[in-house]
Amino acid sequence: MKKKIIDQDYILSNGVAIPKIGFGTWRVKPGKEAYESVLMALRNGYRHIDTATVYKNEKSVGQAIKDSALKREDIFVTTKLPSHVKSFEGAKREFAKSLKRLGLSYVDLYLIHAPWPWIAIGTDHTQGNIEAWKAMIELYNEKKIRAIGVSNFAPSDIEPLIQATGFVPHVNQLPFYVGKPQLENRAYCQKNNILFEAYSPLMSGRVFKLRLVNQLAEKYGVTPAQIALRYTIQQNTLPLPKSTHEGRIINNAELDFVIAPEDMEKLEALHLHPKSRF
Ligand SMILES: NC(=O)c1ccc[n+]([C@@H]2O[C@H](COP(=O)([O-])OP(=O)(O)OC[C@H]3O[C@@H](n4cnc5c(N)ncnc54)[C@H](OP(=O)(O)O)[C@@H]3O)[C@@H](O)[C@H]2O)c1
Repeated sequence: MKKKIIDQDYILSNGVAIPKIGFGTWRVKPGKEAYESVLMALRNGYRHIDTATVYKNEKSVGQAIKDSALKREDIFVTTKLPSHVKSFEGAKREFAKSLKRLGLSYVDLYLIHAPWPWIAIGTDHTQGNIEAWKAMIELYNEKKIRAIGVSNFAPSDIEPLIQATGFVPHVNQLPFYVGKPQLENRAYCQKNNILFEAYSPLMSGRVFKLRLVNQLAEKYGVTPAQIALRYTIQQNTLPLPKSTHEGRIINNAELDFVIAPEDMEKLEALHLHPKSRF
């Protein structure tokens, strides 16, 4: 019998398996909320947790992982280097702090959170990104990280990393949802064997306003969230839905239905932000 989507993996270019649905934790408050949400996700079959230093909840995420009674090797944990840290030593230092807060001896995936500090979006930090990337390659070679990648990187941000080190990121994490087709970034990732992770796959909760998503939910007898998430899976990307409600956490993992090609075309044709960088 075919495995359910929540139990399936993608395989990264280095052979590491990564569960096809990740649990997002942005804006999940540190402490009780993050701890309980991650436990709920793990209890309901998720085996992939996406956090970041900037979310300030690594400690609660780590505690939930520890208390889940699951084996460490059965859970895939991602965290991210803060976007303002653009140096070799800084990256090493931040990684060590993340590891300590998580209470883990290794992480599965470490990402440069963005090519620029969030307070200076669009500014050029090519050299700093190369330095951070070199530190991450070293940590990867030391087996403290099983896969390394980037987030919010355009092809023009990734190319200098490859040119300087010869090391192609395993993952790029970008916003991807109905209305943001990401054709160029997806094509670049596919060409370079970089797994495309879809962040904000529910448009941070706004996807439910789209008439087409609601119409298709009715047609397929599923929820609008399931249409939005299944869309990202059928585009061979890895969605990272976030919720703090158990019913929704369960619902978001039930994606074992198929959206017909003609409906995928309609979803793909929606361009809500035709001029945005991503
Ligand atoms: N790398 C980056 O720069 C970056 C940026 C943004 C996000 N991310 C990652 O991607 C993850 C997801 O993105 P996101 O947090 O922007 O949001 P999202 O997953 O697109 O949407 C989450 C919102 O939808 C609601 N929701 C979830 N499931 C639902 C359902 N079944 N029915 C109705 N409402 C539902 C949630 O509310 P409740 O929680 O109240 O249920 C929340 O308001 C993040 O948590 C983070 O891990 C990464």
